[in-house]
Amino acid sequence: MRLFIAIELPPELMQALGRLRCDLSGARWVPAEQIHLTLAFLGEVAEEQVGALSEELSRIRVPAFTLTLTGPGCFPNRQRPRVLWVGLAPQPHLVDLAAAVRTAIFSCGLPLEDRPFSPHITLARLKVPSPRGVDEFLDAPRPLTLPPLPVQEFILYRSRLHPHGAEHLPLRNFVLAPA
Ligand code: 2AM
Repeated sequence: MRLFIAIELPPELMQALGRLRCDLSGARWVPAEQIHLTLAFLGEVAEEQVGALSEELSRIRVPAFTLTLTGPGCFPNRQRPRVLWVGLAPQPHLVDLAAAVRTAIFSCGLPLEDRPFSPHITLARLKVPSPRGVDEFLDAPRPLTLPPLPVQEFILYRSRLHPHGAEHLPLRNFVLAPA
């Protein structure tokens, strides 16, 4: 099954981020209720390995923390934008959590992503890069007062792909240590 590990956002933050949606040609916006912060993407994992992974993830002892969202940005760059996101102010506990998740994945003998963890919350993916539209989105003079994001747990999700888009099913929640 296709798996990933992420932090769920409170509904009011999902809705606030969903309101950033604009008319941008070629963009596939993440439905507001599905916007999340990915810690690691595993891809296909054999069903018999999920128990061991879940066990390793349950051993993580990172304290709860709060995240502050910053402004919008894009990957890989403004000339060929493919992903639109909202960034996060540096938070060492988030980096520790992502590293601990990576270690858990590695301990189970599952493959790790090559790319380093780059904290972001994806808003939209662009099939065709549209630099001018993306410039407008990134430079829009909008007041961006997003509520803080308290993180008390992280979640192992299954992603089921359907013709109309992905369905994210939480498999197990992992509560962080007291702050
Ligand atoms: P991102 O958009 O936050 O970068 C669930 O599908 C999550 O896993 C996505 O939100 C995406 O994270 C990440 N993801 C999906 N497909 C991926 C892939 N092929 N490679 C890496 N990460 C992927």
